[in-house]
Amino acid sequence: MTKTIDLRSDTVTRPGAAMRQAMATAEVGDDVFGDDPTVNRLERTAAELLGKEAAVFVASGTMANLVALMSHTRPGDEIVLGDHSHIFVYEVAGAARIANVMTHTLRNREDGSLNLDEVAGSFRQRGLHTPATSLLCLENTHNRCGGTALPVDEVDALAGVAHQHGARVHLDGARIFNAQVALETPAATIAKSCDTVSFCLSKGLGCPVGSLLCGPADFVMEARRNRKILGGGMRQAGVLAAAGLYALAHNVGRLAEDHANARKLAEGLRSIGPFRTNQPDTNIVMVDLTGGTASTWAPALAEAGVLATTMSETRLRMVANLDVNAGDIDEALKRVARVADRA
Ligand SMILES: Cc1ncc(COP(=O)(O)O)c(C=O)c1O
Repeated sequence: MTKTIDLRSDTVTRPGAAMRQAMATAEVGDDVFGDDPTVNRLERTAAELLGKEAAVFVASGTMANLVALMSHTRPGDEIVLGDHSHIFVYEVAGAARIANVMTHTLRNREDGSLNLDEVAGSFRQRGLHTPATSLLCLENTHNRCGGTALPVDEVDALAGVAHQHGARVHLDGARIFNAQVALETPAATIAKSCDTVSFCLSKGLGCPVGSLLCGPADFVMEARRNRKILGGGMRQAGVLAAAGLYALAHNVGRLAEDHANARKLAEGLRSIGPFRTNQPDTNIVMVDLTGGTASTWAPALAEAGVLATTMSETRLRMVANLDVNAGDIDEALKRVARVADRA
């Protein structure tokens, strides 16, 4: 049977035998009581890697971001974030519905960055007529902007402006280890000027579940309370945390392979058919269709055994991931070429 090459996302990976073994043998306890040694170890490891005092294990990247918003803000506050940010586009308006904050979006430039002057001009002070802008949210790498890695000096400059205005900074670092590898800079350095940072275990790192939210100890205490409100207090979660510890030990350096595969895929696609692509910084390839539409390309590619995500009628997304090796990328390109020949 021919293997389906699943490039829809880096979330489609399945835990391998060694990760499953780590999960099966994890020492566990009741994490809501703080008794799970494996969760405790994962939280300590995450805090250390991100250069923060503490961390809390949550179910997903969405939960990490929502808990961050709930813990940084008061109802009625305003938050500033990019118009292509995951929090704004894909988190079902949790900011409004649950954190009770108003979103002030600024245009994300093509590389995922925000204009410093626009950010500086966006903060409002609490007043008789105005909400307080209490939080700036950044994203690195930037998903919708094609996995772009925002350089540290830009993160620092944006965070500096927020701090000058008395606001705090949360970094959605769902893929911060991709940024670490691409920028050859430790995640802790990338996140240094941000008050809090979240990252996902269940994307390029290949775990089935889980994200960490890292920050000052008092913030993390508050985050634990907010996680509980969302029903996210887990019990013998060490089974999941063990996968995270395994991934942090074994799957970070290899993200470079995903990045190389994404570059190879982008280059190959450009030479095959009516495709324009980004030059991927990391593992995400955005494929702009200069002929045909996503509604015809996506099913035709799926039929040929290559799965992509439809972003719009003129854009597909393909993401290199742990379950796709360089040979699979060659095979995917062959299959795409066959579909393009017939188109
Ligand atoms: C940048 C970013 N933040 C947050 C998330 C949310 O993660 P989850 O799917 O685990 O809720 C994603 C998911 O793709 C993401 O790309």
